[in-house]
Amino acid sequence: MQVDAAKYGPWAVIAGGSEGIGPCLARHLAEAGINLVLIARKPEPLENAARELRAATGVEVRTLGLDLTAPDMLDRVRDATGEIDVGLLIYNAGASHTFGPTIDWQPEDIVRIIRLNVEGQAVLAHHFARKMAERGSGGIVLMGSLAGVAGSPGVVPYAGAKAFSQIYSEGLWWEMRHHGVDVLHVVVGQTDTPAMERLGIVYPEGTAVGPEAVARVTLENLANGPVVVMPEMQEGFEQFVRPDRRNVVETNASFILGNLEGS
Ligand SMILES: NC(=O)c1ccc[n+]([C@@H]2O[C@H](COP(=O)([O-])OP(=O)(O)OC[C@H]3O[C@@H](n4cnc5c(N)ncnc54)[C@H](OP(=O)(O)O)[C@@H]3O)[C@@H](O)[C@H]2O)c1
Repeated sequence: MQVDAAKYGPWAVIAGGSEGIGPCLARHLAEAGINLVLIARKPEPLENAARELRAATGVEVRTLGLDLTAPDMLDRVRDATGEIDVGLLIYNAGASHTFGPTIDWQPEDIVRIIRLNVEGQAVLAHHFARKMAERGSGGIVLMGSLAGVAGSPGVVPYAGAKAFSQIYSEGLWWEMRHHGVDVLHVVVGQTDTPAMERLGIVYPEGTAVGPEAVARVTLENLANGPVVVMPEMQEGFEQFVRPDRRNVVETNASFILGNLEGS
């Protein structure tokens, strides 16, 4: 895979770069000679990911231990990246930390999902879009989900937040192409990651892809925005963008709750 380091380097920021899809993205970017800033909360996986990348590729890797939902998030990112030339932002963090009926969620859990997937994506994309417009090149990737295309019982706030991500990406893509900056929203499907394991979601055998597959589709399509759908989700995506919303949500509910056969 060829990543254009002249366009997307010399530095890339990966928000959510320590586990799952993030380190796979990081590895390809580092192999293309792009230096990295990795952001995540847990120090150990973050430092391990950085150490492995430095040892394997020799690029510079900075780490920023940060909760992307923190009120001072943008200031912290500004401080950590102020003097470097960032050509690529990938906002990967976003999985729901909760699953269940919305009325059982606490208000702060809903706010956390919105901060992570709406506020976080919007303000970081805006921050780096301005800087990339000045230099006349770059790329911004916002990770989405098939859940963002249809109401999704069990993860209602998450699905709503991912819908925001797609529409925000689409408009930003149109504006930023006039500045030489690519914007891409990736519709991610079932992917085996540590976050899913922690949430207790075990995908049926053979139905999930690995994080490397998502990293490849993402990096191969940086210039093919505004939206790329993981190939195994293409059919579902096409079913879910239909106007008969009641049927779409019923279908998605059956899918999510794993009772397709009984419905
Ligand atoms: N896995 C799937 O089946 C699936 C399906 C559809 C869409 N997606 C999307 O794909 C992306 C990656 O998902 P994932 O399953 O790998 O889980 P994830 O929880 O989004 O984790 C990915 C990375 O983000 C970091 N992260 C999570 N929350 C953070 C926070 N509040 N502040 C800073 N860093 C944070 C994690 O490290 P720390 O935990 O140490 O912070 C990790 O490095 C997400 O946007 C998700 O919505 C995933």
